[in-house]
Amino acid sequence: MPEERIQPRVHDVVGIGFGPSNLALAVALAEEREERGERGERGENAAAVDAVFFEKQPEFGWHRGMLIDGATMQVHFLKDLVSLRNPASRYSFLAYLHDRGRLVDFVNHKTMFPTRAEFHDYLEWTAAAFADRVRYGTEVVALRPRDDETLEVVVRRDDRLETHLARNVVIGVGLEPVLPEGVRAGERIWHTEDLLTRLDERADWAPNRIVVVGAGQSAAEAVEYLHRTYPGTEVCAVFARYGYSPADDSAFANRIFDPEAVDHYYAAPDDVKRMLFEYSRNTNYSVVDLDLIDELYRRAYAEKVAGAQRLRILNVSRVLDVRDGAGGARVRVAFLPTGEVADLDADAVVYATGYRERDPFDLLGEAAGDCLAGPDGRPVVERDYRIATDPGRAWGVYLQGATEHSHGIASSLLSMTAVRTGEIVRSIARRSARVTPVV
Ligand code: FDA
Repeated sequence: MPEERIQPRVHDVVGIGFGPSNLALAVALAEEREERGERGERGENAAAVDAVFFEKQPEFGWHRGMLIDGATMQVHFLKDLVSLRNPASRYSFLAYLHDRGRLVDFVNHKTMFPTRAEFHDYLEWTAAAFADRVRYGTEVVALRPRDDETLEVVVRRDDRLETHLARNVVIGVGLEPVLPEGVRAGERIWHTEDLLTRLDERADWAPNRIVVVGAGQSAAEAVEYLHRTYPGTEVCAVFARYGYSPADDSAFANRIFDPEAVDHYYAAPDDVKRMLFEYSRNTNYSVVDLDLIDELYRRAYAEKVAGAQRLRILNVSRVLDVRDGAGGARVRVAFLPTGEVADLDADAVVYATGYRERDPFDLLGEAAGDCLAGPDGRPVVERDYRIATDPGRAWGVYLQGATEHSHGIASSLLSMTAVRTGEIVRSIARRSARVTPVV
């Protein structure tokens, strides 16, 4: 693939990915600049931090394949892109509601958990204000050190490669979907990340049976949505647990998502880190909002009363094998207590088998040689989210996400986004001769 000549301008910050994490970073950088302006800084100090973001999607989108009608946020609306860092920001969820003329209506609604569709609209509204800083339809494929101060960022746009220069790179590429070993996505085998995209391709679809594998939030949402949307379809939920387990979002448990908890987690020895992680697992992993569990149970029970069950919960069960054939998929399911095996013929199999962190080393390319890794092969990440490097390197690579091992369970969630971006901006400012930290 031809590589275009290096763009001569050296950006202070290149953001890889423009999801909520780097969108929040764009806001934090802009607000830092405004604050310096208000303080009347002149000359070098008043110079704008020059930031550009590369996003591989053609336009802004936050998990569009799971923007299920009616699905709600799992986080308080004040944990938006900015409020915990700067409650006076004009990019808060409240400012968005005000701009849309819905602030009073939202207050009357008495909810702390808006729908994901509304939150998506908030994110799009914010992203639109930063459109001049984002290059959509561009994928970063590698980083290379140019010298001790500058990195080359290799970007694929259409069929061309371009190289841009940066003093700092902030990786905010999100999580990657996981399918069980040996399973490949195909015509009838999907991961939940593509659920609505796949369904949109099928106008007037009337499936006989859909199998959903998994027992977490996405699995329960997929079961609920498919059952509601296709009234003639049997929906089989297959999972190893006895039942869906509720997410612990009680007040004390929620403190694991506080900024202070990141300090505690970061400072803790490895065995305490593991302990904290295990204690907090049921705030986020393989758990479901209690309201949704109640709704699914209500439906299953109502069908039992009516004597016509099409919401089938196959608990304590495991999928042994899936074959995607011309006429449909055949799913072989074992009931674990007895070992009994049954075949289910399905029009689609939806894997709600979660996500994992993307390995930053996959993106780092030649720059990886200057980055420190721990014994587990993961990058050593400093408290300010910068990957530790050989001391001679003045350039910085920061991580938003992929820091569960160092910074704790909030790493991939929205709870810490506002505060984390403030910390990254402060760190970049501290390390740069040109910028005075004020965030
Ligand atoms: P995110 O994945 O959102 O964005 C990363 C972006 O980087 C994407 O736009 C991608 O296209 C782009 N990208 C990737 N590689 C690239 C490359 N090489 N070059 C250029 N661009 C690249 N959390 C929470 O706290 N509360 C909630 O309610 C929810 N709800 C929720 C629902 C669903 C269905 C999912 C799947 C996840 C959640 N989450 C969540 C967790 C989720 O991780 C979080 O909400 C944010 O999406 C994290 O934002 P990021 O920007 O870090 O990643």
